[in-house]
Amino acid sequence: MNSTTQRLHETAAFLHAYRPLWEQRPFVCVPVPWETEWPKLSAVLREIPDDKIEKVEANPLAFLKENGALPTLSSALFHHTKMMSLTENSVTAGPRPSGVDHRKWQQIAYFTSAVLRSACVDVNRWVDWCAGKGHLGVAMHRHTGRPVHCLELNMHLVHRGNVRMAAEQCPVTFYTANVLKDDISATLTAETGVVALHACGQLNTRLFELATHCAPAFMAVVPCCYQRIDGMHFSPVSSAGKQTGLTFTRHQLRLPALDEVKSTQHRRAFRKREMAFRLGLDLLLRESSGADEYTPAGKIAPAMIRGSFESFCRAASESVQRELPSRVNWRQAEKNGWERRHLVSALSISRQLFRRPIEVWLFLDRVAHLEEIGFTVNYGEFCPSQITPRNLMLLARRS
Ligand SMILES: C[S@@+](CC[C@H](N)C(=O)[O-])C[C@H]1O[C@@H](n2cnc3c(N)ncnc32)[C@H](O)[C@@H]1O
Repeated sequence: MNSTTQRLHETAAFLHAYRPLWEQRPFVCVPVPWETEWPKLSAVLREIPDDKIEKVEANPLAFLKENGALPTLSSALFHHTKMMSLTENSVTAGPRPSGVDHRKWQQIAYFTSAVLRSACVDVNRWVDWCAGKGHLGVAMHRHTGRPVHCLELNMHLVHRGNVRMAAEQCPVTFYTANVLKDDISATLTAETGVVALHACGQLNTRLFELATHCAPAFMAVVPCCYQRIDGMHFSPVSSAGKQTGLTFTRHQLRLPALDEVKSTQHRRAFRKREMAFRLGLDLLLRESSGADEYTPAGKIAPAMIRGSFESFCRAASESVQRELPSRVNWRQAEKNGWERRHLVSALSISRQLFRRPIEVWLFLDRVAHLEEIGFTVNYGEFCPSQITPRNLMLLARRS
């Protein structure tokens, strides 16, 4: 067993052991089944005042340590999430081209720095995988002098990219391609280096599938959005991952990305209101049906959330074809929704603790797959998490 496989197994065992704490969404079920097994944790979370929830969400482990709720968990969490850094502590991004967002430019600077440190001498051409506007591809050309092919689904981005590159006489060419469907194996020659920054879910696993048959010289990949898969269930990419027996639903795959929700106060207030309304409606539907089951209200227009709770419930219950109770005290029903929202947010903190271990496991599964098909893989964090929390990168070289 090599070190990746060993780590994959150890982290899987850890996630299996604590599965009740992350598998169930309190949104659909309160009390959550784990509360009987972990009464101290349950009590500590239920007591968090509403105005402290966001602070605890930002650093749930610190809060639990302070309260002594799960003493054995904190060192295990550290062990299962530690990663080496692939770059120097501070990388200078250099002048930012117009039209590139500041954080994106910093990510590109760290990304290229990690790639250049790994001395990819066999590469005579780069492919920017799901390139978007191709800023990464252009940076790779500037640093290495090699031509770049940008593969991108959106034909407007392809057109605009080619017009811009022609004006700058830059040997970066955009191609319209659906990497999931088109036959692009001929693009991945033995002299090609592939770079992929934030290629979501299947877009990066597709690259790894293709790499089984047509081995490019080098791949540098930062995965994200693990939940973007076909179907509702995830199956591991590597044989080692499959052996661990760990499975995830699409809802559970969303967990790693939950720390990305950086938004304005206005947006956060809106989200709270939406959650209170949905949960308030759910309570009314449970009362009218007599069944203690969650009813999803489906897609809701923002205007409905801005209106009154009563008009929201009437419209949403009609759209899901469910009856409201014949008599409703609307003031009380809305208050119940807000109280439920507080409880659900507090109990959801147990899931937040497992965001990073789950992400690390999904990432290691990809690393293990590449090792299984004959790549030598170096991996770690390519930039500080303040620049992007999706900061795990793998650098794979054909052995
Ligand atoms: C999150 S963006 C990342 C863009 C770029 N790599 C970056 O970091 O700025 C993902 C890009 O993948 C493209 N994309 C989505 N599905 C694709 C597919 N099936 N084939 C090729 N590109 C795709 C999208 O149009 C989008 O530009």
